[in-house]
Amino acid sequence: MGLDFSSDLEILQKDIEQCHLCEISKSRQHVVFGAGSSDARLMIIAEAPGAKEDEQGIPFIGRSGELLTKMIENVIEIKRSSVYITNVIKCRPPNNRNPNSDEMINCRPFLHKQIEIIKPEIILSLGAVSFHYMSGLTMGISKARGRIFDLDGIKLIPSFHPSYLLRNPSAKKEAYKDMLLIKALLAQ
Ligand code: URA
Repeated sequence: MGLDFSSDLEILQKDIEQCHLCEISKSRQHVVFGAGSSDARLMIIAEAPGAKEDEQGIPFIGRSGELLTKMIENVIEIKRSSVYITNVIKCRPPNNRNPNSDEMINCRPFLHKQIEIIKPEIILSLGAVSFHYMSGLTMGISKARGRIFDLDGIKLIPSFHPSYLLRNPSAKKEAYKDMLLIKALLAQ
């Protein structure tokens, strides 16, 4: 039987709920810490919470969340509850602007602690903000996707952000291939 790390995540969540390092903490309704299994083999890291997520404190519950859930459950063919989903920053930036570098630096210890607790085999990085942050590289998602990057022994897989896919449905076939790559890696 594996160890249960859910209480470590709960302690970290209580810490971050007290965090007011960034200006945007003043306008948040909720800290959107993350959701899913504490022993997930697959961790999904996107950008920042949107309006619906801020309202409810849960990542990916809006339209892009619906698409992400379909990608996980219908293509990778695993339950959404078996993966762990979070964002680079945990508070909603006003008007859904990209997180700025101070916000990403302030949130960094929390994300790194989440990765340390969960110890995923694979990280799916959704969108350029997440991929650039996780890899330290600057190449676009179109160029990076389809490859597996090494992040200290964790397989880092870049793909398009679901909100990009909603605006550019022609990119869905590439995202589909990325999900199949993850499915194959999880079967190994
Ligand atoms: N977009 C993100 O990047 N994260 C969410 O949690 C929701 C939408």
